Formats: sequence, structure tokens, C-alpha cells
Amino acid sequence: MNAAYVIAGASLAGAKAAETLREEGFGGPLVLIGEETERPYERPPLSKDYLLGKAERETIYVHPQPWYAEHDVDLRLGARVTGIDPAAHEVRLADGSRIGYARLLLATGSSPRRLPIPGAEADGVLYLRRVADSDQIKAAFQTASRVAVIGAGWIGLETAAAARAAGVEVTILEAAELPLLRVLGREVAQVFADLHRDHGVDLRFGVQVAEITGSGGQADGVRLADGSHVRADAVIVGIGITPNSQLAEAAGLEVGNGIVTDARLRSSDPDIYATGDVANAYHPGLGRHIRVEHWANALHQPQAAARAMLGQNAVYDRVPYFYTDQYDLGMEYAGYVEPGGYDQVVFRGDVGRRVFIAFWLGGGRVLAGMNVNLWNVNEVIQAIVRSGRTVDPGRLADPDVPLEEFG
Ligand SMILES: Cc1cc2nc3c(=O)[nH]c(=O)nc-3n(C[C@H](O)[C@H](O)[C@H](O)COP(=O)(O)OP(=O)(O)OC[C@H]3O[C@@H](n4cnc5c(N)ncnc54)[C@H](O)[C@@H]3O)c2cc1C
Ligand SMILES: NC(=O)c1ccc[n+]([C@@H]2O[C@H](COP(=O)([O-])OP(=O)(O)OC[C@H]3O[C@@H](n4cnc5c(N)ncnc54)[C@H](O)[C@@H]3O)[C@@H](O)[C@H]2O)c1
Repeated sequence: MNAAYVIAGASLAGAKAAETLREEGFGGPLVLIGEETERPYERPPLSKDYLLGKAERETIYVHPQPWYAEHDVDLRLGARVTGIDPAAHEVRLADGSRIGYARLLLATGSSPRRLPIPGAEADGVLYLRRVADSDQIKAAFQTASRVAVIGAGWIGLETAAAARAAGVEVTILEAAELPLLRVLGREVAQVFADLHRDHGVDLRFGVQVAEITGSGGQADGVRLADGSHVRADAVIVGIGITPNSQLAEAAGLEVGNGIVTDARLRSSDPDIYATGDVANAYHPGLGRHIRVEHWANALHQPQAAARAMLGQNAVYDRVPYFYTDQYDLGMEYAGYVEPGGYDQVVFRGDVGRRVFIAFWLGGGRVLAGMNVNLWNVNEVIQAIVRSGRTVDPGRLADPDVPLEEFG
């Protein structure tokens, strides 16, 4: 049988899996296949310091260029996996070649949802997933006086902040009543709405976008379903992603909101694993499957997947974590709450000054916590979430009670 370990998808998750396989002593052939022409890089800077012009391109990469040859990783860039043959233990590539595998890891990530309205294919309608997209948006900020941003999720808010830093007028068009509403709930979503209003963003909630207007193939604004029109020199779209699970589905693997795996990241085929944005993995701490679309998951989960591929007893059960930076607000969030799946939000600190911790409580326990402009507390928050103990909300809100008491 072929001894190669093959990884489809050469971004953060794929590169971290390759690194762990070598660290753990895997000495066989290791092939890392990516359809992008760049070597693996991290995406968070693309909407933050790289977009703001504060970070050089060289800083975004997961490994220095020589690392792949030095670790005997056969990195194939500009190569798309087009099919998996589980019976033959082979992947097919777009150029018609086939690569055999003993174990296969799918780290194919996710792709932006496209806007399904007339005019959406015009020039000046911009998405943000790849480094070239970030370059294009940065260039647009140099010439545009005003941009419209469709979607007040992570992409929408972070690019809006970067646009304001570049002196561009911004209108955000969001279908829901508040930004980040499904993730944060009303109480904390309001903090982000206030933040952007304070920085001069025109926020429009509960709107339906009907058409991208323009002339000569160039976008010049957005028409809303109520007939009103928002003028814009460029339109940035951030309306969510879909997991790239088509290969797995075509190969007959179990798929549902991504590739379904157990806690060891193994799919319904015993020799195929999945990790990162594309994996809907069983989380033992939460007692359910979750698919996490965040950097920390793509950093840590592949390490567990790689160990499991080598037959080690590795289970991924870290508390989900993400962060954002917008204007002068930096935050970290740890935990997991289903949309609307909490009873109460407890604030500790000064929400008006945006220096506080928010805790989401359900059944008396802390489900998640978010530290805003306060540092070195997220590990304690993770311990509190992990402990599953019931807490007294009054004491939790009291900054004089040490947080360690709740963990
Ligand atoms: C602009 C931006 C900013 C972000 N900022 C943050 C942040 O601040 N904090 C945070 O927690 N998270 C952030 N995220 C989310 C985080 O970047 C993702 O969760 C992470 O990139 C997921 O990594 P991944 O390797 O699983 O998938 P991806 O990064 O999507 O990579 C998958 C790779 O596989 C390749 N691929 C797909 N199909 C095939 C195929 N058939 N053959 C070959 N290659 C294939 C893709 O081209 C891609 O290169 C951000 C995302 C974006 C886009
Ligand atoms: N700091 C971070 O963690 C960070 C930063 C950037 C990107 N990301 C990741 O990148 C991915 C893409 O981010 P995103 O912001 O596109 O997705 P998202 O899911 O965070 O937000 C999408 C937003 O678009 C809105 N929306 C959907 N359809 C709409 C429509 N037709 N009109 C108006 N609004 C609409 C939704 O209500 C939601 O608020 C996600 O996986 C996200 O986690 C994360």
C-alpha cells in the first residue's frame, strides 16, 4: 500500500498538520496540495494590519519558503484536487495526475458566499478571502471616496474599520437588526454598533439589498428593496462562507454543515480526516458537533488531526476561541453559544469606555466570555467555561471578586 500522507488544502490548517506530522516523526512521503499559488499564509492580517498597510507581506506566511524543502514536504501549489477515490486510496488533480495516499487530510477550508442579486458581477464588487483580494481592497481605498459594505459580520466590520482609517466614507448594509447578532446576541452586538457609529460609519440594519447599480460594467452603488439608493465607488461583500466540502460529498463521505468527523477528526472513511473551517467535528467538552470558522481552530485542531492520523490517541477539545481588532477595540472571545442560546449576559467593567468582560450564562453556568481591551484574562475565562460550575452573577459582575474564584 502507498505510504504517502496527503493533505488537500495548503493554508493554515494544512500547513500546521504537515508541521505536526514531521514533528511527531512521520518519515514517509508527505504531499501538501493547494490551489492557490501562494505558499500557506494566515488570513487574519488581510482584514487588519496587512489591509491597513501596517504589516509587510512577508509577515503573513505560516512558514518561511525554505521550510517545506527542509522538512521534505512536497508542496504543490496552483494544484487543485478534483476528486477522491476512497477505494483506490487516490486523489485526482486538475491536471489529470493521481496521487496515492495511506491517509488523506482534507483541509480545504471555506469560500465566500456570493451575492445573488443583479449587478453583483460588476467591477468594484469585492470579496475578501485571499491575499490578492486584500491588495485589491487596499488599492480601492486609495481611489474611493465612499464604499458600501454588505454584511456586518467579521469581514464587514473589520474592512469598515480599515476603510475609515484610510479616510473613506462607509455605509454598512446589514440584513439583521445588529452587527454580529447571531454570534454575540443583542447586548454585546450593540457595543459594536456603537463603536462603528462613533467612528463615523453609516449603519443601516434590517435592510435588503436588491441590486448593484453601475454603468459600463463598473459598480456605482447599491439599490435597496425599499427603492432607496446608496452611492459607492466600491462595494465590499462579507455575507458569510460555505465550507468546501464538495470533494468529500462526491466521495460519499458523511457531510452536513461541513465534513462530519469524530473527536479525532476522522471522517466516515477511516483513512480520511478533516480539519479547520471545513470540519464539523465532535467536541467532547460540548457534547456535540461544531464547525468553527476561526483562526485558533485552524491553528490547533490540525495538530490533533495529524497525531490521530499517526495512530496516537489525540482528541481535540480546546475551548473555541476567536479575536478581533477594530479601531481602538481589541477583544478575545472564548466559549460557544448557539444563536440565542443563553439566558443572561453579565458585564464586568466599564462598557461605556469599552474596557470590560462580558459573560454569557446559560442554566447558571458560563458558556462563553469575551475580554474587551483587557488582557491576560482569556486563559482564566477558558478555565471558567471548561469548569462548567454554576456561578453567582452578582459576584461575577463585581471587579473586586477575583476571576479565579469561578474557574
Ligand atoms: C480576511 C479574513 C480575516 C480573518 N480574521 C480572523 C480573525 O481575526 N480571527 C479569527 O479567529 N479568524 C479569522 N479569520 C478566519 C480564519 O482565517 C479561518 O478560520 C482560517 O483561514 C481557516 O483555515 P483553513 O486552513 O481551515 O481554511 P482556508 O484558510 O480556507 O484554506 C483552505 C485552503 O485550501 C485550498 N483549497 C480548497 N479546495 C481545494 C482543492 N480542491 N484543492 C486544493 N486546494 C484547495 C484553498 O484555496 C485554501 O488555500 C479570518 C478570515 C478571513 C478571510
Ligand atoms: N475576527 C474574526 O474572527 C474574523 C475576521 C474576518 C473573517 N472571519 C471569518 O471569515 C468568514 C467570513 O466572514 P463574514 O463576515 O463574511 O461572515 P459572518 O458570518 O461573520 O457575517 C455575515 C454577515 O452578513 C449578513 N448577511 C448575510 N446575507 C446578507 C445579505 N444578503 N445582505 C446583508 N447582510 C447579509 C449576516 O446577517 C451576517 O451579519 C467567517 O468564517 C468569519 O468567521 C473571522
